[in-house]
Amino acid sequence: MTSPSTRPANIPLPYFDILLEQLNLGEATVQQAFGRHVHWGYWTHPTQADGSIEGFAIAAEHLCQRVYAAAGLKENDRVLDAGCGFGGTIASLNEQFQNLHLTGLNIDPRQLNRARQEVKPMSNNQIVFVEGDACQMPFPDASMDVVLAVECIFHFPSRATFFQEARRVLRPDGRLGICDFVSVPIFRMLQQAFAQFESFTALVDGTYGRVDSCFTLSDYKTLAQKTGFSLTFQEDITRNTLPTYPIVRQVFDRVGNSQAVQATAAVERISQLGLLRYQILSFAIQEERK
Ligand SMILES: C[S@@+](CC[C@H](N)C(=O)[O-])C[C@H]1O[C@@H](n2cnc3c(N)ncnc32)[C@H](O)[C@@H]1O
Repeated sequence: MTSPSTRPANIPLPYFDILLEQLNLGEATVQQAFGRHVHWGYWTHPTQADGSIEGFAIAAEHLCQRVYAAAGLKENDRVLDAGCGFGGTIASLNEQFQNLHLTGLNIDPRQLNRARQEVKPMSNNQIVFVEGDACQMPFPDASMDVVLAVECIFHFPSRATFFQEARRVLRPDGRLGICDFVSVPIFRMLQQAFAQFESFTALVDGTYGRVDSCFTLSDYKTLAQKTGFSLTFQEDITRNTLPTYPIVRQVFDRVGNSQAVQATAAVERISQLGLLRYQILSFAIQEERK
């Protein structure tokens, strides 16, 4: 029988299998790069990125700060971080704010186990980490001020169901802040039309698990409208995230996983071509639906 700390998620997340194995082995580079945040970095001046793991860790911290700033997060908020990884965004909020009620939700008990060990409340904040699916949130209606989903919505079974659930658990003045890899329409058409793109999808899924990279900005606007949100903030930060790719390739190369190196290089090429855009989006509840 597996203990809660070793039981994997009931969805495939191969890259977390790699990271957790390396963290358990005490691999210092993986610890520094992905011990806290497991998302891309944000460089204000990407052409000046120095390619270091230290620089990447700082850039990853900046990225989550941009997402929660876009959601207008403030003291005393009740915050749900859906798909919370190792609790890096909760840790950042815990350091930056006081009097927050912080809830991290994750489908993977192994990640939650690490989050509980690493992130301890301070500054009168309260923190809980809960196992569950972001599309079936185990929380009451109108119990949150802010819902965040930092670089994870593409894994969820359905963006639409996640938005409905976020709308349900948010209070009337609630905000939803996310970052996501958003397809440009031509990329979605190419993916749907050409079998060659099946190998791209298979390569990416083999390392990153289920990744739906076919959602466009226009799809987000339609989804928001249908689920009672309005888009209040949108920032395309693709070029600010590009220095991430050589670092991630370097980390996977270091641990000897050539498939993960190739998968990351494939996403890098598509991003450099401008077909996949890294977007920060924030939504508020529509006035007439409050
Ligand atoms: C790229 S990681 C981002 C982790 C974290 N948000 C961060 O920025 O460090 C994606 C996360 O989504 C989580 N996840 C995937 N599917 C999920 C689901 N259906 N419900 C909740 N979490 C999920 C994964 O376990 C993982 O923690």
